[in-house]
Amino acid sequence: MTWFIQAIYFLTAVAFIYALKQMSHPRTARKGVVYAGIAMAVAVLATFLWPGMQNLGLMVVALVLGGAVAWWAAKVVAMTDMPQMVAIYNGMGGGAAGTIAAVELLKGELSPAFAALAVLGGLIGAVSFSGSLVAFAKLQGLMRERPITFPGQQTFNLVWLAVTVILGIVLIFKPAVSLIVLFFLLALAFGVLMTLPIGGADMPVVISLYNAFTGLAVGFEGIALIQPALMVAGTVVGAAGTLLTQLMAKAMNRSLANVLFGAFGAVEEEGPVEGEMKEIGLEDAAALMAYAGKVIIVPGYGMAVAQAQHKIKELMDELEKRGVEVKFAIHPVAGRMPGHMNVLLAEAGVPYDKLFDLDEINPEFETADVALVIGANDVVNPAARREGSPLYGMPILDVDKAKNVIVVKRGRGKGFAGIENELFYRPNTRMLFGDAKDVVTKLVQAIKQY
Ligand code: TAP
Repeated sequence: MTWFIQAIYFLTAVAFIYALKQMSHPRTARKGVVYAGIAMAVAVLATFLWPGMQNLGLMVVALVLGGAVAWWAAKVVAMTDMPQMVAIYNGMGGGAAGTIAAVELLKGELSPAFAALAVLGGLIGAVSFSGSLVAFAKLQGLMRERPITFPGQQTFNLVWLAVTVILGIVLIFKPAVSLIVLFFLLALAFGVLMTLPIGGADMPVVISLYNAFTGLAVGFEGIALIQPALMVAGTVVGAAGTLLTQLMAKAMNRSLANVLFGAFGAVEEEGPVEGEMKEIGLEDAAALMAYAGKVIIVPGYGMAVAQAQHKIKELMDELEKRGVEVKFAIHPVAGRMPGHMNVLLAEAGVPYDKLFDLDEINPEFETADVALVIGANDVVNPAARREGSPLYGMPILDVDKAKNVIVVKRGRGKGFAGIENELFYRPNTRMLFGDAKDVVTKLVQAIKQY
């Protein structure tokens, strides 16, 4: 039976890897999620067959309760609240890994080598759990979103971590209950301390990092328990989370250290931008687009806030009916989570082959009659090309190279980086102020006249 279960675990591990591969493309991502879900269900069911397994009734109750809550939460969650949902689920994974470590340490039967792995997994899991809860609270508006800082914070945090690690080392050789409790309390508190100085808008990167942490913690617990399925699943999650974290940091041109310790969101003011901000009327904007040969739509965080994606799809349809070529330019960190724009546009029925990433679309802006920027700001800010700007080095969409640029936003509010956008002052740019959904709805109506 043990071999049979291990064989099932092996197959599920292979299925996880295959599912992850499927998730790397929007067209196959849904299938990937389904495969991973089925593999996880099979792995959980196989665990019931484990010889000597006790408390089966309690396990079923826990599974039914947890499954029901997760099912309901996933059904009702708004797309804009997805990052905090990921945060809380991820935190639960870290918490589970930490709990396994605590139980194993409390049993006091581990050899020092395995106890060391349990301590390491316990520390990382506990940090991931409490850190993810703070991330959730910040994104859900339950606590202040801006970085919470105090003088000497980094030294304080470092000392706290050092004390926790020293206690963990003591635990390996002397697993007393009081020490185990204290160790986990310190580790949980460290997760909170580590997340407080990070601004709400940086949370997706941090959530991805905690995701990698959770994977690592699960992997370490897998080794401590000699459970290959946990080892493989943990390693896959750890590696995927690390790569995603790196990709996001790279697309923002920020180091991970800057995300973690930079308290981003409190950027100092730069001087005024040269040029003048000009507006365009709704009718003029509609005419410009209706008679254009090529329109590139650039969505950003504001589109997600306004939930304008369905109206944007209508706009695309109306323009195409009039023979206009329409493409979408998707920046890797547009919005507030990886794939944010892709998911919203897919939800509205925009075909994947109309979405182009940065490298594909940038050479095309020069040939576009209109670049329609909808609620995007930092990802189209030419200041990123200027040395000394806080955005310097961030790859941007070359929107300013289009013949005409129309920017839809509510007012003069800045983007996430908190700096003025030079694009808005360029001679070929005109502003169309208003809520994205409202403006695009009116644009669709106006274009229908042509
Ligand atoms: P942002 O720079 O955040 O700008 C969004 C713009 O949308 C704002 O200027 C805002 O201006 C406008 N807006 C807000 N609500 C609106 C509404 N209802 N209707 C119309 N406009 C609205 O957006 P972006 O260009 O997508 O850039 C994303 C930023 O987030 C980048 O700096 C990126 O580094 C950061 N970030 C991204 C991620 C991921 S993974 N995507 C993770 C962490 C951080 P008004 O207030 O004037 O309307």
